[in-house]
Amino acid sequence: KKKLVPRTRKEIFETLIKGLQRLEYRGYDSAGVAIDGNNNEDKERFIKLVKKRGKVKALEEELYSRCLVLHLKCLISSIGNIENMKNMCNSRMKRLDSSTCLHAVGDKAVEFFFASDASAIIEHTNRVIFLEDDDIAAVTDGKLSIHRLERSASDDPSRVIQTLQMELQQIMKGNFSAFMQKEIFEQPESVVNTMRGRVNFENSTVLLGGLKDHLKEIRRCRRLIIIGCGTSYHAAVATRQVLEELTELPVMVELASDFLDRNTPVFRDDVCFFISQSGETADTLMALRYCKERRALTVGITNTVGSSISRETDCGVHINAGPEIGVASTKAYTSQFVSLVMFGLMMSEDRISLQKRRREIISGLKSLPEMIKEVLSLDEKIHDLALELYKQRSLLVMGRGYNYATCLEGALKIKEITYMHSEGILAGELKHGPLALIDKQMPVIMVIMKDPCFTKCQNALQQVTARQGRPIILCSKEDTESSKFAYKTIELPHTVDCLQGILSVIPLQLLSFHLAVLRGYDVDFPRNLAKSVTVE
Ligand code: G6P
Repeated sequence: KKKLVPRTRKEIFETLIKGLQRLEYRGYDSAGVAIDGNNNEDKERFIKLVKKRGKVKALEEELYSRCLVLHLKCLISSIGNIENMKNMCNSRMKRLDSSTCLHAVGDKAVEFFFASDASAIIEHTNRVIFLEDDDIAAVTDGKLSIHRLERSASDDPSRVIQTLQMELQQIMKGNFSAFMQKEIFEQPESVVNTMRGRVNFENSTVLLGGLKDHLKEIRRCRRLIIIGCGTSYHAAVATRQVLEELTELPVMVELASDFLDRNTPVFRDDVCFFISQSGETADTLMALRYCKERRALTVGITNTVGSSISRETDCGVHINAGPEIGVASTKAYTSQFVSLVMFGLMMSEDRISLQKRRREIISGLKSLPEMIKEVLSLDEKIHDLALELYKQRSLLVMGRGYNYATCLEGALKIKEITYMHSEGILAGELKHGPLALIDKQMPVIMVIMKDPCFTKCQNALQQVTARQGRPIILCSKEDTESSKFAYKTIELPHTVDCLQGILSVIPLQLLSFHLAVLRGYDVDFPRNLAKSVTVE
């Protein structure tokens, strides 16, 4: 046990500023501190609020320049807005006396940290307690107690100290120039972590521990509804077809906001999946509560242990991709993809007619890490392509079938961090509008893989070249036909059709990264965007 050595004011200040900096990845554009100190002259207590737009560095400099660091006794720091700050201070704190004490941690601890995100404190401790909505936590005389005015259904003894697996090094950039780049290059390992202890390659079996007790119920359901926002929604689009095939159930994929806008009918024999890297996205969380009210079984697919979505769902899967810091999601997408495929495989374990297909997919999963490495080795080639494209205003990404989601996701990456206009186009819709955009100037990326849509994609390719379009083609390295019509090709290793999207999205992740760097933008902190959108 550490010995109790009180931290100096300067140390407290530095700890808090560092903690705030570790939260910058969430993408807020201002930070502030409230300093509780003494006014030296009249000994009256003062609380001083200092806020600053921009990076935490600016706030730090401001505090130093105003010598406020020396005055501080207790300091609360925040990044972004605390909307109901006044309420919290006035009414909620007065509640404290009459509230029930829910949880008092026995041992006196050396020190306590309060943070909204584990990244802020992970260099000091990995032992955490997750607070629920409306909890009030107090530390008095070295002891922590958690209070709430009304007991809720979730007040149970499970509010214990949890040990996080996260390590400091995971939230540092290492040798990479940006978190996003580091996360793209982590994908050979992150997909392995997603499958670890779950896929048995010898027996061709898959076991997702968090779902096994609900499997019977899921197999009996009316339909699967998969709900998410942004990249997480794309992971649902990407796996819809293979899930329909393996579960033999109708599968709906829904953007959380639109699902709520439509007051979509949900029934108690529906199974609703909530896909979210952060586990905190407000729209997805609202959709989860909406489905719970209607008594559907709810399943979380998240990357953040202890997040609201993982706590509030009936059961779920942690994708175990490790912390994702870059605002533009990359490794979470491929791990969500793998998790949903694993779910399909688990559901079809007893289906004799599907065994050959299952074995084919499982052996595809086995070779995935090596194939991802091979795709990553194309980085330089993709950088050269970015050199050609970075001054363009627009970039179309076209494909269909299993790779439609690749186009949506690739276009989203490009929009998010390069600020170029980019559109993911379903090649089947080409004749219904997008063809009008094609000329010899408009850059078009076409994803054409050796899968059941190959011939149809060839058709789209001819439509594009007939209009003097100059397509850049992402294709399989076994494909000799497509390259004949291409202005440029990027050749990828070939895997089983339903997993190909994991490989084909990576060149687009890399391309968006290089384009953003060449255009001079901060890759990890795109303007106007946040990593976790916790407001509707
Ligand atoms: C934000 C992020 C996106 C992310 C989306 C959903 O918009 O900028 O990168 O895909 O939220 O986030 P979630 O944490 O629910 O996956």
